[in-house]
Amino acid sequence: MMKATARAHSNIAFIKYWGKQNEELRIPLNGSISVNLSNQHTTTTVEFSSSLERDTFSLNGKDEDIKRISIFLDRVRKLSHIDIKARIVSENNFPTAGGLASSASGFAALSLAASTAAGLKLSEKELTILARLGSGSACRSVPHGFVEWKKGNSNETSYAVSLYPETYWDIHMIALIVSAKKKEIPSTLGQQKAVQNPFLQTRIERMNSKIQHIKSSLFKKNIHTFGEIMESETIEMHAIAMTSTPPILYWNSSTVAIMEKVWSLRRKGTPVYFTIDAGPHVYLLVEKKNSLTVEHEFKQMNEVKKIIINSPSKGTYLFDAHLF
Ligand code: PMV
Repeated sequence: MMKATARAHSNIAFIKYWGKQNEELRIPLNGSISVNLSNQHTTTTVEFSSSLERDTFSLNGKDEDIKRISIFLDRVRKLSHIDIKARIVSENNFPTAGGLASSASGFAALSLAASTAAGLKLSEKELTILARLGSGSACRSVPHGFVEWKKGNSNETSYAVSLYPETYWDIHMIALIVSAKKKEIPSTLGQQKAVQNPFLQTRIERMNSKIQHIKSSLFKKNIHTFGEIMESETIEMHAIAMTSTPPILYWNSSTVAIMEKVWSLRRKGTPVYFTIDAGPHVYLLVEKKNSLTVEHEFKQMNEVKKIIINSPSKGTYLFDAHLF
């Protein structure tokens, strides 16, 4: 039977991927570092069958656009020398309509499910490369725990590796979902604009040293230096977005209110730090021992519509129960 199911967790980047050296192959201008999120995952079943006339894809029970997925499946078909269509059924356990990125967990799960269903046995490195071709940040959802995407300069040299397993550091990444009034600018578009931004060059020049610094504070599990680098990195990536032409502002007033609250809690002695992806929602980094207190503080904010508490998680794995 040419059918397989995989589960992948979404990831949040401490050092962000923003700008590509190669659009088609999704090779980034800089390396990035992330952690997989335990409570945000995608489960995907893929079946290749000669009885199908076309590829189909449904997400949480709703038929979705197949274009980007079909292009991706063509790569899998080429690798496995098959020429038949596939049915894909996916479920996210977290709100995508609310604007939480799902392309990372989505393409990571699809990579393992589709390659397995097609009879391929890819190594972890090969799987990260395949996932990257679907969506850049998806490569970081393949290995376990804390992950580095090495930027490389070709299809084979741009891949992700695990730095530490999920059990390495007792932290929580708390997702604070705020209301997203207007539709967000897709990260793909934001990344294209970044390349023309004159400030990007300065960011890229400082990147290797920033990556070294954050890796050294991860090694020491120093929440203070780690959090400070993570926070200033977020502001820098968003500064690039804001100074693009036309400007891209992913934050809204709720985002800013949360940032100010984080700084206020820090002034009172609680080690809590934020990071923000291409949207208005905020992720908080806390040590597990402070998680409940911090959650309580943010629960009281009107701006916070939903909270997801994440521990570091394993990467992408085959899953026994098929979705159809
Ligand atoms: O993989 P993409 O194209 O959705 O880009 C992800 C971009 C950020 O989430 C903002 C940063 C990152 O490294 O995940």
